[in-house]
Amino acid sequence: MVGSNEQREMQRVAVITGANKGIGLEIARQLALHGVTVVLTARDEKRGAGAVESLRGSHQIPNVVFHQLDVRDESSVGALAEFVRTQFGKLDILVNNAGASGISVDVEGLKSLGIDPEAWLSGKATSLVQGVLRQTYDGAVTCFDTNYYGCKRVTEALLPLLELSTSGARIVNVSSLRSELRRMPSESIREELSDIDNLTEEKIEGLLRRFLEDLKEGRLEATGWPMMLPSYSVSKTVLNAYTRVLARRHPSMLVNCVHPGYVKTDINWNTGVITTEEGAKGPVMLALLPADGPTGCYFDQTTKAEF
Ligand SMILES: NC(=O)c1ccc[n+]([C@@H]2O[C@H](COP(=O)([O-])OP(=O)(O)OC[C@H]3O[C@@H](n4cnc5c(N)ncnc54)[C@H](OP(=O)(O)O)[C@@H]3O)[C@@H](O)[C@H]2O)c1
Repeated sequence: MVGSNEQREMQRVAVITGANKGIGLEIARQLALHGVTVVLTARDEKRGAGAVESLRGSHQIPNVVFHQLDVRDESSVGALAEFVRTQFGKLDILVNNAGASGISVDVEGLKSLGIDPEAWLSGKATSLVQGVLRQTYDGAVTCFDTNYYGCKRVTEALLPLLELSTSGARIVNVSSLRSELRRMPSESIREELSDIDNLTEEKIEGLLRRFLEDLKEGRLEATGWPMMLPSYSVSKTVLNAYTRVLARRHPSMLVNCVHPGYVKTDINWNTGVITTEEGAKGPVMLALLPADGPTGCYFDQTTKAEF
């Protein structure tokens, strides 16, 4: 993409998933303004190319390119990795931002409840929302395949290129405060996910299979899973666990996860209270960490927090 080998090494390159709108698009904008070359990805060619055009045109940001990426599609992930390899020969920053709620919602019913942000965040709204938010089995499968397996798929495909980063790679997994272990009712699941030294993908995926089995049998509450956005919460809890596994396995990289804040976007049916500009700050900070920055940590926006 650029002239000499030296220039090529100096130029930091970032891939952002699910960046055609919302927080991902804003992360792309902010990273590009920091001089990073951004590969803005989206599953839909038209929406993604439109987002790149908006950054290049009205925002006059030239250092953004588009590549299609559906995190649920192995061949799409492979094509992206090949594109980054041939265009840049390495990768410096990966922001796993693409996310799905996994929930069927009665939007009008939800709006009519007029739930205040405090009740959403604290979990007090859990019983209120049960009539308007429905956790289906298919929704949970989509949610896990996007938020956890999708992140893992993309990360594994790009790890060989991240290992070639000369500035030290950064991986940012966009999580949620729904991930926090204190929100998980089951003590044994909390303990399993807190045992960092023994955490593996096999254990994580075993938990996801257990959740799906319990969902199918209609015993989520009885078996101690969270009842507020069940599959979404669990997907983000295991995303955090995966972040810790990755950080342990790749000590030369800085791998962290972050709750972006309660941001007004489509994923929460625009119930959020802060702008995408605010919400992107934490992920961007972690994408640009200095060499002695933290790894294997969870952040609530820009502040380090408890898993
Ligand atoms: N907003 C909040 O308050 C909040 C709070 C905590 C965490 N988060 C997290 O922040 C991240 C960004 O969400 P957002 O708030 O910006 O919501 P959003 O505007 O709905 O954006 C979600 C993005 O993910 C993409 N996506 C979904 N499935 C995909 C797939 N299979 N492959 C590739 N891209 C896919 C969507 O693409 P399409 O346009 O094609 O659907 C969209 O670009 C998510 O991980 C979310 O869980 C958000």
